[in-house]
Amino acid sequence: MATDRIIIFDTTLRDGEQAPGAAMTIPEKIQIAHQLSKLGVDVIEAGFPVSSPAQFEAVRRIASEVKGPIICGLARAKKADIEAAGAALEGGEKTRIHTFIATSDIHLSSKFADERYGKTLAEKRVQIKEMAVEAVTLARTFTDDVEFSAEDAGRTDTDYLCEVVQATIDAGATTINLPDTTGYCISDEYADLIGRVIKGCKVPKGVVFSTHCHDDLGLAVANSLSGVQAGARQIECTINGIGERAGNAALEEVAMAISVRGPHFDLTTGIQSELLTQTSKMVSTFSGFVVQPNKAIVGKNAFSHEAGIHQDGVLKSRETYEIMRAEDVGQTTQSIRLGRHSGRHGLFNRLNKLGVAINSAEKDRIYDEFTQLADRKKEINDLDLYNLVHNYTNVNNDAHYSLEDFGVTVGTSKHPEASVRIRHVRHDQVVEKVATGDGPIDALFRAIDHAINEGHDLINYTIRSISEGADAFGEVSVLISLGGPCFAGKASSTDVVHASAEAYMNALNSLAAHRADQESIQFVNTGIMQAFDGGVE
Ligand code: KIV
Ligand code: ZN
Repeated sequence: MATDRIIIFDTTLRDGEQAPGAAMTIPEKIQIAHQLSKLGVDVIEAGFPVSSPAQFEAVRRIASEVKGPIICGLARAKKADIEAAGAALEGGEKTRIHTFIATSDIHLSSKFADERYGKTLAEKRVQIKEMAVEAVTLARTFTDDVEFSAEDAGRTDTDYLCEVVQATIDAGATTINLPDTTGYCISDEYADLIGRVIKGCKVPKGVVFSTHCHDDLGLAVANSLSGVQAGARQIECTINGIGERAGNAALEEVAMAISVRGPHFDLTTGIQSELLTQTSKMVSTFSGFVVQPNKAIVGKNAFSHEAGIHQDGVLKSRETYEIMRAEDVGQTTQSIRLGRHSGRHGLFNRLNKLGVAINSAEKDRIYDEFTQLADRKKEINDLDLYNLVHNYTNVNNDAHYSLEDFGVTVGTSKHPEASVRIRHVRHDQVVEKVATGDGPIDALFRAIDHAINEGHDLINYTIRSISEGADAFGEVSVLISLGGPCFAGKASSTDVVHASAEAYMNALNSLAAHRADQESIQFVNTGIMQAFDGGVE
């Protein structure tokens, strides 16, 4: 039997944008719509045209500019809404009008309390069904692709829901959406609802049932998946799960569940999963909604392993703790995060990747220093590792240069200026230099460079506070390079200018030691070659 294709209906630009504070500009929405098209979604709900001129314009522009997916506009079961949606979508290549009305008794008795909708609940039910039919009929005059949603279907009496659904199908609805508007349903209940409505109606070929689940109980993705197992073939979802209140089912989670658990669902989607992270970042930037680090699929920690046992397992075989590959969802993060819980295997593997060879005699001490650092610092990055190794391996290095004195002056009316006195230990020579710079640290580093007079590039300079308060300790890390290998220096002090100078000197000493090593290797090689050449003659 052929594997069924699930229609991915993205409502980031409509339900997603309804999230308080998530409003996006029209150009941002257009950019997201293009990205959603590349991502492979089947339907883009671009907005709610009647609700504001900006919404109308966003839907209009997306319908005319974005090719590929069906472009959909939302409309209440009202003439003005449907006409506005029809006008906004006019001229679009593939368009859909999505009309909705609430069907649960809770909504009927409060939102439709006015007597013009009927005096009793029974009368209101009849009236609402008629409004739904009229809305679908009118929408069909604009497009052949009409979706009807029974708002709050999750809390609607099933027999009445079947009546409304049948009536709207008969009026020409091609997609029937059964939203769990309040995120109230538990997965088996939602699956049961979908199954019962499909069974309870005469469903012509081509009519598709849809899920639309909110995350108030954290069940939106689970409920959507249960819905498709019960026969729905469209899932409504949003990037990063943004949406009303606790949000909607997250597109990236739904798509990856269907893909990773292929044999379980026997379903597919058209989602190009390697674009998921990129899309998530775009939506996060434009909506201003930060993605939590532990967010499934697109969170920055989603493929990071910190516990030693996990790191060890993943390094032996990814399958031990990974059910999908980071690159399959477009994540490029360092999968092994070094921190307090990391083990030796993770540490030495990373050092190896950084090209830092550690002999077995050094390993215990390096690991010991690493664990001490990890107690102070949440995450250990590559620069920290360079520093750590450098600090240890440099213990036996005689310094080539030492900073005997320095001074920095700053003011509002002149450029920062620094002076240094540096001893060239090997030549027993003291050099004094002065330099100006863009800031005190820049001036200081320039003065040191003049005094040392050897070329290199400054690759990285970071400063962080390692204690609290105005007199906090500042830890400075510096990374310099000769074009190939990097040399790190680190120092801490309550005086960050002093710490910067010492960190820079440490890095320069490390580089000088490397140069000296290279020169002696060169010297030995040249000597061997000369001796060899002499022997042949
Ligand atoms: O949650 C909901 O019921 C909706 C409808 C408009 C489909 O967003
Ligand atoms: Zn919704």
